[in-house]
Amino acid sequence: MLQDKHVTLTVSGSVASYKAAALARALQRAGAQVRVVLTEAASRFITPATFAALTKQPVLTDAGWWQADGNIEHIELADWTELALAAPASANLMAQFANGLANDAASTTWLATAAQKVVVPAMNSHMWAAPATQRNRQQLIADGVTVLEPATGALAEGYSGQGRFLEPDEIVAQLQALPAPAAAHGDLRGKRVLVTAGGTRERLDPVRFLTNDSSGKMGYAVAAAAQQAGADVTLITAPTKLTAPVGVTTVPIESTQDLADAVNARFPRTDVLIMAAAVADFQPVTAADQKIKKTPDNDQLTLTLRKTPDILQGVADQKRPGQIVVGFAAETQNLLANGQKKLTKKHLDLLAANDVSRADIGFNGDNNQVTFLFPDGHQQQTPVAAKPVIAGLLIEQVAGLLNTKK
Ligand code: CTP
Repeated sequence: MLQDKHVTLTVSGSVASYKAAALARALQRAGAQVRVVLTEAASRFITPATFAALTKQPVLTDAGWWQADGNIEHIELADWTELALAAPASANLMAQFANGLANDAASTTWLATAAQKVVVPAMNSHMWAAPATQRNRQQLIADGVTVLEPATGALAEGYSGQGRFLEPDEIVAQLQALPAPAAAHGDLRGKRVLVTAGGTRERLDPVRFLTNDSSGKMGYAVAAAAQQAGADVTLITAPTKLTAPVGVTTVPIESTQDLADAVNARFPRTDVLIMAAAVADFQPVTAADQKIKKTPDNDQLTLTLRKTPDILQGVADQKRPGQIVVGFAAETQNLLANGQKKLTKKHLDLLAANDVSRADIGFNGDNNQVTFLFPDGHQQQTPVAAKPVIAGLLIEQVAGLLNTKK
């Protein structure tokens, strides 16, 4: 992925800024050609001379930006860039990028490039957790930027938390796993892709429901990746805290029955269905019209549940040649054996098997690792990586399947 790639490394101000020098070297070792932009704050932590010596290329800084010499360096650099990598990215840099600011060398270069973009945050854990930073992170993801997860551990402030800059070798490993931006290949142009996301809710009464731990992050990342690949994407989503990717048609639903209706209505017009939703398997036989009250004699309450419709099983019968159906399997044991059974039973073209018992890649996490299972029995495991990276790998597989079914 990095061999001969033109990588523009944007370095912002952080105690981790010095690690960007090692990162530049690691990128070069992986075969990349590296050029560097330093923010004003970064120049207080590390000098342009360090990067100029390492890269043998001029370094763009605010001091050298917009000189009256007839060169427009940020545009020249933006056009040269094939991978824009902001590392370490401070909270301020993320805010600039998420809001499209163009007020210094780093932000203008970023805004002006159409290249694939990756942000590697580094900041204090409270700044990382702040609603504004999380909003900016969501916005960047919705704009198609890959945001890697900062590590958890000892921070410069003397306490522990999430916000540590990833080690240079870890960053390079995640970049190596990054799928090429599918849009560049037009992989899914002209294709209608239906993605489902989130955990369905089954009502007990007007104020209570049964649901599961799904955050919807994986499904949203899949919708964004399909959209970046040029597809016409519809996202059917159970309630989540997420912002829908720009350019995707969103259909909100609540229960499994709503989801089944929404999928069935669209399936005939769909080229690819990706069921990332965590669907409730059982629903209350009756939902109370009014709030269920405690009474002196109901020390126990028995719920009677019945099976919900299996949506994937249902569409299998309507499937026409050339249509691709992808499922996810959330398992806590016997991942691959159970996954393979679901693939066969539900007549899937691809199943992403996900071990949700592991805390690092579970339902609510930001990272994931899946094994792709195919009907011919072959399997492919992804590395542990940010959900948008895994989503890109999934879309790459889908594009491959569409090609072989042509
Ligand atoms: N799924 C579905 N309809 C359901 C339940 C699940 O379409 N009623 C889909 C999910 O969206 C997922 C796949 O089927 O893509 C597998 O879901 P999972 O919950 O892992 O498996 P189940 O079929 O529910 O089987 P089990 O309860 O045995 O794990």
